[in-house]
Amino acid sequence: MTDKPALKLKRIQDMTVKGKRVLVRVDYNVPMKGSKIEDNARIRETLKTLEYLIAEGAKIVLIAHLGRPKGKVEPKYSLKPVAAELAKLLKKPVAFADDCVGPVAEKAVAALKPGDVLLLENLRFHAEEEANDPAFAKALAKNGEIFIQDAFGALHRAHASTAGVTKYLPGAIGFLVQRELEFLDRVIGNPQRPFLAIIGGAKVSDKLAVLDKLLERVDALLIGGAMAYTFLAAQGINIGKSLLEKDQIDAAKAIIEKAYNKKVEILLPADHLVVREIKADAAVVSTQAMSIPSDMIGVDIGPHSIEFFTDHIAKAKTIFWNGPMGIFEMPAFAEGSTAVAKAMAEATEKGAITIVGGGDSLSVLAKTGLASKMSHCSTGGGASLELLEGKALPGLVALAS
Ligand code: 3PG
Repeated sequence: MTDKPALKLKRIQDMTVKGKRVLVRVDYNVPMKGSKIEDNARIRETLKTLEYLIAEGAKIVLIAHLGRPKGKVEPKYSLKPVAAELAKLLKKPVAFADDCVGPVAEKAVAALKPGDVLLLENLRFHAEEEANDPAFAKALAKNGEIFIQDAFGALHRAHASTAGVTKYLPGAIGFLVQRELEFLDRVIGNPQRPFLAIIGGAKVSDKLAVLDKLLERVDALLIGGAMAYTFLAAQGINIGKSLLEKDQIDAAKAIIEKAYNKKVEILLPADHLVVREIKADAAVVSTQAMSIPSDMIGVDIGPHSIEFFTDHIAKAKTIFWNGPMGIFEMPAFAEGSTAVAKAMAEATEKGAITIVGGGDSLSVLAKTGLASKMSHCSTGGGASLELLEGKALPGLVALAS
């Protein structure tokens, strides 16, 4: 069961938007290489809301952030390339304004006709956005008559565009947020069992709270990626020169003990791929055991772990995955993460509910072409983890009546 009360939220379809200026918060924090968008999934996922508003004859004003420019105008974080990509996807022009508040924004908003779409420049070019400054929130609100929250990935941030603005405009959640909540609430509230969570990535400290909370909900917790080395070290296993968060060893021990008491199975890698030096063409050795030789570094899970993890994934009825199994960015160390993605795709085909969150896991899916084989790919890494932790998301709390 979820430990937070259900929030009463209006939905976009409950609002009358015809002819109105609708301020839509979206999460267009997409991966970029220079001015090229590497993955447009976050943009594509907003199309349902935007096409609905266009068909209803609303004047659409989009607000979003990109990167962490820390309150300064930094051209490399401009949303301009996103406007061009959105225009391509919507097959219609998308206007762009160089500021999200003030006369530049107001002029662009005033020029909108029903069905038009305008994207305003990066909210985080103003320090007041992340500070949730009330005057800035009010200035943002001037751009609309109705507020639609569709930035699922930013709901865990209490910023002016996610929390503050809701004080000045009637608001509702868009279709993307609705879909995310529907899937994630199903996992939190009433999962089909066995429920397996697969948590990977580098840092135990980042994910400790979620691991602790997940033990209340799951039947098995699979820990992979560099994080697993701290858990192995906590059990006295030699991890060589692999990444270790020494100050998290006690926390890892506490998680293992809690899991034991709750009869939750903890699955750790049984073997590893190791190298002497982390580089793309390094000579890769597969350990035959859980321990890693003193002069080696773990970079991926080994073949026995793949087999063992795949078996557990095949048995689960609900699977949540966040975080890779190894340094997947280098093809030689991507096999473990790819194997998890493949096993999840097969589980989905056999009727399991599979949910993937987090930028790195989504990159694995994009690389393997398996995204469409999952029940749900969450657009929010941090937000989906905080939901699973049972935290109330500030962006939703602010909107609730
Ligand atoms: C994300 O990418 O998770 C969201 O867009 C939030 O970005 P942030 O972590 O910079 O607040």
